Formats: sequence, structure tokens, C-alpha cells
Amino acid sequence: MTDAPRPILVFDSGIGGLTVLRELRVLMPERNFVYVADDAGFPYGNWPEDELRARVVALFGRLIDEFRPEISVIACNTAFTLVGSDLRATYPDHVFVGTVPAIKPAAERTRSGLISVLATPGTVKRAYTRDLIQSFASQCHVRLVGSEKLARMAESYIRGDAVADADVLAEIEQCFHHQDGRKTDIVVLACTHYPFMANVFRRLAPWPVDWIDPAEAIARQARRLVAPADHLQPEHHADRAILTSGKPDFSTRRLMQGFGLSVH
Ligand code: DGL
Repeated sequence: MTDAPRPILVFDSGIGGLTVLRELRVLMPERNFVYVADDAGFPYGNWPEDELRARVVALFGRLIDEFRPEISVIACNTAFTLVGSDLRATYPDHVFVGTVPAIKPAAERTRSGLISVLATPGTVKRAYTRDLIQSFASQCHVRLVGSEKLARMAESYIRGDAVADADVLAEIEQCFHHQDGRKTDIVVLACTHYPFMANVFRRLAPWPVDWIDPAEAIARQARRLVAPADHLQPEHHADRAILTSGKPDFSTRRLMQGFGLSVH
């Protein structure tokens, strides 16, 4: 037996979960990570709910068997808002940390009472998202903005491909609205891909707003669930990326390697 810690598994449909991995590493420096991108299923935004549920639940059976993670962080709103409870019911001995739209913190922080939630079409239509609004933001006006294109644009942008400002603006402008002399003051980034483009959003925004990125809060929750092990050292170069397509292109490999992940 070795006392090497089991890895933390971080899951997304694509590269968005890297925005969460970044924060996990800050708070859990002694741990190793396995990053899993279900790029064969990307993007998740328009999948029929039953099919996506079945896919992710089955995939996790294999991932838990193969990597024996200490916990799994579902760094994907589109997946977790649909499949979170199924994963916990199917794998009751495994701990899952989820990602859901940060509607509660937005409702606590807004001054104008006008909040927008920028997400994939899937997250926008989830019962889970509606429940969050009812439970935590019933006093606010919450506008749900489902973008068909932004997750792909974020993938292109982070790989260094040109993304036209006008195309980005077309996806985010619905987040900005006026009502009775008040304006939207908070936009929730409810897709883990979007923080990669936060600087572009800020530059193109018709007026300044707070953009809420939940990554740090997710990392804090993971840290609470995994005992700190100060005596342990992470194995250098042991963090891995697994892509379900099995054939990442050159720019994906380079990106993963840039995040210190060796690609399998
Ligand atoms: N990163 C994912 C999320 O947080 C979604 C990306 C996609 O598959 O469209 O919702």
C-alpha cells in the first residue's frame, strides 16, 4: 500500500472545466488531478435531456472504476444541473462536487435587482435553474440568456483563433437591460467556458457589470470535502487529461499541456 493520495477528477464537456481546475490547484496544492473532457459529446448545450443523462451516468461508471478518484468535481453547469442527482443516486459511495448557476450570490449582491444568467441553452431550460431562481432570487428580475454559440467561441478563443467582437456581442447583449430606470448590474457566468472570455465580455459590455465566476466557490467546496494532507507532495507531471474522443487535435494538446496536463 502507498499513501499517495487518490486523484481529484475534474469533468466537463470540453475545456471549460480548466477554469475550475485553476482554482482547485490553488486551494489543493498537495493533490493530483485527472481532467476529463467529454469532447466526443461537446457541446452539451443542445443534447436531449434523457440522452445526456444516460451518457454522463454511464461514463462516470467507467471513470470511477478506472481512476478511483477521491472526489469528482463536475465543472459543467449543463451536466450537473441535469445529472447531479442521478450521479449521486447511482454512485452513492462517491462524492460529487457540482457546478450550478451562481444565482444565490448574484441575488445577495445585486443593487438594481436586475440579474442576467448567461448559460448554454440546456442550463437555461433546466428545472434546477428555475428552482434556484424561485428559492433564492424571487425578489429579483432574473433574465436567462441561453447561447447556442458561446461555448464553441470560447474554445476557439482560448486556442488562439480569431473571434469577431460583433459575434460575441450578439451573444451577450441580451444580458443587458433597463427597467424602471434601473439596469442589469450582475451577469452570472453559468457555463465554465465563459470565464475564459471574461475580458472580452468586459470590453464589449454596454455598461460595467459584475461578472460572477463560480470557480473559486467550487474549489472551496471541494477543499472542505477533501482533508488537507500537508505531509503529501503531489507527484510532479502526474496530472493527466483524458479526452473521450481519443484524438485531440494539436491545439487541444498544446492547451492541456499548457495547463500542466499530459494528454492521454
Ligand atoms: N462548460 C459547460 C457548462 O458549464 C458547457 C459547455 C457545453 O458543452 O456547451 O455548462
